[in-house]
Parts: sequence; structure tokens; C-alpha cells
Amino acid sequence: MIFPAPGGALQTFAERHGIRIGARAIAPGDEVRLWPEEAEALAALRLERRRASGAARALARNLLAEFGARPCAIGRDGDGVPLWPPGFAGSLAHDETHALAAVARSEKISALGADLEPDAPLASELLELVATPAECARYDLALLRRRVLFVVKEAAFKALFPADRRFLDFHDIEIDLGSGRARTKFGGRCLFAWEGGAKIVALAAREA
Ligand SMILES: CC(C)(COP(=O)(O)OP(=O)(O)OC[C@H]1O[C@@H](n2cnc3c(N)ncnc32)[C@H](O)[C@@H]1OP(=O)(O)O)[C@@H](O)C(=O)NCCC(=O)NCCS
Repeated sequence: MIFPAPGGALQTFAERHGIRIGARAIAPGDEVRLWPEEAEALAALRLERRRASGAARALARNLLAEFGARPCAIGRDGDGVPLWPPGFAGSLAHDETHALAAVARSEKISALGADLEPDAPLASELLELVATPAECARYDLALLRRRVLFVVKEAAFKALFPADRRFLDFHDIEIDLGSGRARTKFGGRCLFAWEGGAKIVALAAREA
């Protein structure tokens, strides 16, 4: 499985906004890719979780290097928000098998959000928890049953939280899949793109 797919929606979105994305399978030993200060911050997490975080940070360091940035630790603040070097915005995500990272210069993109999930159906009792009444009316059941809105909303949350510091419920965000815009009932706005396959992957960007 390759994502973002060459020429696909995510890659097109990333190129338009100057974002670089990296994704790969998590492998045994990725936990040692954590820098000492990162390992210290994540020490309480179980091995699989530290391994996933190590894989995502290794990807992010590669992306930063592509921008010419010096290698650095990517710490976390007290809310879990990843800490990027001055001049950069980024986001990390991982599921059971894969890690994902996205990085951009912060002149145009003040914050990024990335998320991925297996493209498996949502439990039916979760459909109305994730989709607002307006989204339930707008999108067909086949789409609502996939995790598209779930993944896009998680990505949007990651892009919006660092500045707003507001925890959001799924119903606090409305997703317009046609325009690729997300907005919260509190006035937060971001752009996004998503792609399906074995995984659903979404990238959200808050314009500076
Ligand atoms: C932040 C959150 C979305 C992460 O989701 P997750 O499925 O647990 O984990 P993911 O693998 O997708 O993402 C983990 C990464 O997100 C980043 N992250 C964690 N908290 C974050 C926050 N508040 N803001 C932005 N990024 C955050 C970190 O980089 C983390 O990676 P790390 O632990 O290796 O540093 C989730 O923990 C959370 O706080 N959810 C509450 C809000 C919410 O989801 N509302 C419904 C959607 S609006």
C-alpha cells in the first residue's frame, strides 16, 4: 500500500500548499529512533506506542531535512501537541501499523493536522456521534459508514487545537467534502484533503 498515492488528492493538496508528507509501516526498532528528550517525554507509554511515535518522528525529521532544517527533537507540550522548530508547522499520526507525518513552512500554513485509520466500517451506533444532522442529511449512508468524516475531523482537530486550545466534539466541526473546508461552531477554519484505500488518510491545514 502506498499513501499518499502519487497524483492523488493528498499529494495534490500538499503540493498546492507547500506541505511535505511521509508515511510508512511501523517496524520493530522504531522506538530507538526517538531522541533522548522525546523518549523521556513518552516513557510512560507502552512499547508499541513509543515505536509508532519513533516512526512518525523519524519521518518528520526526514521531511524537515528536505526543507533544509537542522535535525532536532520533536517534543510534546503538556496537551500532547508536537513541538516544531521555529518556522515550521507539522503533524504526526499513527495507527496500529503505519505512521504518518506532515510538515510545512509556517509562513503560509500556521498549523497542520494529519490522521489515518483503517478503511473499515464505523460501528453503526457511532454514525450519528461522528456526523452532525446536517452531514447526515448531506452525505449518503455508504459514505457515512466509512470513517471519512471521523478521520477528517481528527485531522482538523489537530490543526485547530494548537492555537485555539479548545477540545472539540465531533459535532463541533462541520465538514464540506465538496469544497475541502472544515469549520467549527466556534469560528475555527481549515482546509483539508483525504484519500481512501486500505487506510483513510486526511491532511488538514490552517492558513496563516
Ligand atoms: C489528539 C487526538 C486527536 C489524537 O488521536 P489518536 O488517535 O489518539 O492518535 P493519533 O495517532 O491520530 O495522533 C497522535 C499524535 O497526535 C498529536 N497530538 C496529540 N495531541 C494533540 C493535540 N491536542 N493537538 C494536535 N496534535 C496532537 C501528537 O503528535 C501525537 O503523536 P505522539 O504521541 O507520537 O506525539 C486525540 O488523542 C484527542 O485528543 N482527541 C480529542 C478530540 C477529538 O478527537 N475530538 C473529536 C474530533 S473533533
